[in-house]
Amino acid sequence: MNINWNEIHELATVAMTRSYSPYSHFPVGVAALVDDGRYISGCNVENASYGLGLCAECGLVSELARTGGGRLIAVVCVDADGNFLAPCGRCRQLLFEHGGAEMLLMTADGPEKMSDMLPWAFGPENLK
Ligand code: THU
Repeated sequence: MNINWNEIHELATVAMTRSYSPYSHFPVGVAALVDDGRYISGCNVENASYGLGLCAECGLVSELARTGGGRLIAVVCVDADGNFLAPCGRCRQLLFEHGGAEMLLMTADGPEKMSDMLPWAFGPENLK
């Protein structure tokens, strides 16, 4: 499948502008291409009870399920300047669940496989 990285990057940057991050002042946006060709996105949504804040990737996987499921093919996560952001450890696990080892994540060094971003991952296969 052809991956339009510019389109995904643009959607992630738009999503970032919707961030609710009054506590950290660190808006994050993320967008993805799904295996049926559709695009989805998400932003971080914080909470007065700080530890309950939702990372942008939480919104992304919720949107994935809500709009019909499928597998993540390519993901871009950005900061307030639109620069590529490396997802936190927890969110790498979220992305791995829905994209698997072959999913591509854009980094400053170019696209990287999820298997390189989260080596020796624990995933659905381990529960069989
Ligand atoms: N954040 C994300 O949304 N995704 C990440 O992968 C890294 C961190 C958010 C959480 C919090 O709202 C803010 O960035 C600062 O940590």
